[in-house]
Amino acid sequence: MGVTGRVAEGRGIALRIGVPGGEPTAYEVRVQRGGFDELAKLSLRDAPAHRYAIIADSRVAALYGQRALAAFEREGSAAQLFAFPPGEWNKTREEWARLSDEMLAAGFGRDSAVVALGGGVTGDLAGFVAATYMRGLPFVQVPTTLLAMLDSSVGGKTGIDTHEAKNPVGAFHQPRLVLVDPDLLGSLPAFQLASGLAEAVKTAAIADEGLFAWLEAEAKALRAPDLDLLTELIGRAVAIKAKVVEEDPQEVGRREVLNFGHTIGHALEALGGYSVLHGEAVATGMRIETRLGELMEITQIGTAERLAALLTTCGLDRSVEEEYSADQLLEAARSDKKVRKSAIRCVLLRRIGEVAGGKDGTFSHEIPAQEALGLLRAALRLAGDDADSLRQ
Ligand SMILES: NC(=O)c1ccc[n+]([C@@H]2O[C@H](COP(=O)([O-])OP(=O)(O)OC[C@H]3O[C@@H](n4cnc5c(N)ncnc54)[C@H](O)[C@@H]3O)[C@@H](O)[C@H]2O)c1
Ligand SMILES: [Zn+2]
Repeated sequence: MGVTGRVAEGRGIALRIGVPGGEPTAYEVRVQRGGFDELAKLSLRDAPAHRYAIIADSRVAALYGQRALAAFEREGSAAQLFAFPPGEWNKTREEWARLSDEMLAAGFGRDSAVVALGGGVTGDLAGFVAATYMRGLPFVQVPTTLLAMLDSSVGGKTGIDTHEAKNPVGAFHQPRLVLVDPDLLGSLPAFQLASGLAEAVKTAAIADEGLFAWLEAEAKALRAPDLDLLTELIGRAVAIKAKVVEEDPQEVGRREVLNFGHTIGHALEALGGYSVLHGEAVATGMRIETRLGELMEITQIGTAERLAALLTTCGLDRSVEEEYSADQLLEAARSDKKVRKSAIRCVLLRRIGEVAGGKDGTFSHEIPAQEALGLLRAALRLAGDDADSLRQ
């Protein structure tokens, strides 16, 4: 997968992402203010179908469902809205089954397509419905949260959570089109916008020092929210993500760098149930993992402090880790939950804008079980100190 072209498109950009050996072989990510009004026209162009199943959570359905239906009506095309209750706790097998059953009952056949209209939860859940319904329907991503616009809608990962874990059941299923209209962020609560900024900071931290510095300069305006600046941010972040997964659509190698902050982040999500937003957990994860990297003499000293400062400016100053001990975090972060002494793996930075490669060509570092607890205790203390001094 890779960015094969980049053309100016009015008030936004259009990236063309290639998927070697995949289906589709390429798709467009259009980032354009006002682009939502072209939903039906572009869906008919890139995912032509007899009928469209628009899947949204009930909050997004109430905000944008009618506009989406009207767009298809204007093109003389049939569409039907399927809603599910909002929230991560509904990204389940049960909702996947219910949505699939409703589509079957409504007579949707192989000649249909799915439109995922919503945040990352909707993209993952509706994408998984599309991946499995009649062995796979074409689908269009219309992300409505910042997190979904600059991260989760691109790359083709779909799936659901189980009681034990996040995303253990899923499929790679690339969309035919990703249509990003930053104007839809106008209705997004500020804390959800901040959560999305965490993934933007992650993208910059692993790959682009220039973007990181730009974020430091513009973070306040982005939160305002300045929709033109957000359009620019989404375009830049998506271009980086597409490039990172270029050689590795199935995450067997380089794509792992996108998991920076996620080893500890996922552990915090597991411990906190659904009381913590993905972005908040990832922000805390990045702060702790970067302190770990500094302690292990892999990450340049000063990186963690700079990262913590930007996250605070982005409104990501909640210290989720304060509620947990290093032992609890380590237990939750272990890759193999059945092996008590198993190691953890983290993506570590060399410096801002660059990931430190691991042993044997890997992109993460194993932290041996016997050292992990001591390191994590020290990293937690340092990350806590960073947060305290920034709060003053
Ligand atoms: N597939 C991937 O590659 C990938 C990458 C990162 C994250 N994810 C997944 O994304 C999910 C998190 O996504 P999220 O943070 O977007 O959560 P979300 O989809 O639950 O959206 C957050 C909330 O915002 C509301 N909302 C959405 N758009 C709105 C708008 N424009 N105006 C007002 N309210 C709006 C939703 O109703 C919801 O209540 C997690 O499940 C995570 O695992 C997937
Ligand atoms: Zn993430």
